[in-house]
Amino acid sequence: MTTNFELIGRDDVDDLEAILSISNSDVDAIVHTVRAEADSLFTWDYARSRPALIKLYEKAKTSQWNAETDLDWSIEVDQAAVALANQVQMNGTEVFGENVELKGTVFSTWTEDQWIQLGIEMQNWSLSQFMHGEQGALICTAQIVETVPWIDAKYYAATQVMDEARHVEVFAKYLDTKLSGHYPINAHLEMLLDDIIADSRWDMTYLGMQIMVEGLALAAFGFMHQMTTEPLLKKLLRYVMSDEARHVAFGVLSLQEFYKELNSKEIRERQEFAFEAAVRMRDRFLQQEVWERMGVDVKEALTLVLQDPSRKEFQNILFSKIVPNCKKLGLLDAGDGWLRERFTELGVIQFEDWADTETEYADLDEVARDRATA
Ligand SMILES: [Fe+2]
Ligand SMILES: [Fe+2]
Repeated sequence: MTTNFELIGRDDVDDLEAILSISNSDVDAIVHTVRAEADSLFTWDYARSRPALIKLYEKAKTSQWNAETDLDWSIEVDQAAVALANQVQMNGTEVFGENVELKGTVFSTWTEDQWIQLGIEMQNWSLSQFMHGEQGALICTAQIVETVPWIDAKYYAATQVMDEARHVEVFAKYLDTKLSGHYPINAHLEMLLDDIIADSRWDMTYLGMQIMVEGLALAAFGFMHQMTTEPLLKKLLRYVMSDEARHVAFGVLSLQEFYKELNSKEIRERQEFAFEAAVRMRDRFLQQEVWERMGVDVKEALTLVLQDPSRKEFQNILFSKIVPNCKKLGLLDAGDGWLRERFTELGVIQFEDWADTETEYADLDEVARDRATA
């Protein structure tokens, strides 16, 4: 098998030196500026000509929810108990699986309290990254409103802007009122969001945000939703996921149409963009900032993390929406299957025939389901 990680400047995907060489340098800044180069497009064609997008737009209008009143914020959260329950739920493998030899490492001397603290930091970190990612989505979809040339897509994207504002709102509120501290944005996530926002081609905003970032978010929320026993977080995630399923569908529906017009060189650029995004997202889940905060040697910790087969399984699941959607868009097999090879190297190709997200949103509408029950 050929390796192609030169594209991202490393010998292999687990090159820790390269991964750790990227860190967030403006953690104390309040504002982060990215220059967007895209044109804002008016369209004078107001005809409604895209039935699938019209349907999605109608769904978005009726499935809006209110973060203040649809969630029970009076629920109290015992974060240590949640951390412990998560560890039990995952048979202790959230941190290190049983196949990882801890003898001789700093972790062999850790007390129960330190493991619990690690679990707490991981929650703070995860929810913080969700919140930052949601702000990225807020900015990207506002950008799509401006840059996409189709009126039906502008209408739909406008509903998504509202969805994303609500998502930032709920994660920020959960962090502030139920958890015990924020983390700054992870450097790999920040780099990816910056690249997406800066790209002047409107379809790249879609590919980066709707397909890659949101596809991964949908899988990550699903995983956390399944794992957590905390009722407020569970419902919050259930509602966010119903929105996210529409967002990913929006990406698939729009790009399917647009990619038909692209030549092979242009498609290859999209494949490379998707691959780079995949690697950045994988890097972000190494949670390097958590190990730093726990005061351990980050490289030593991550070396152990990377040895852990159960960890790898979890990371791979994150790609379970992305790979089928890339396949549906024709990105997997275009140009001699370049992206298929890369996803094979990343160990995620096995998801190619899982459900894609073009129509899944109707089944995932938990907001409508709860209202029908009520
Ligand atoms: Fe979102
Ligand atoms: Fe979204």
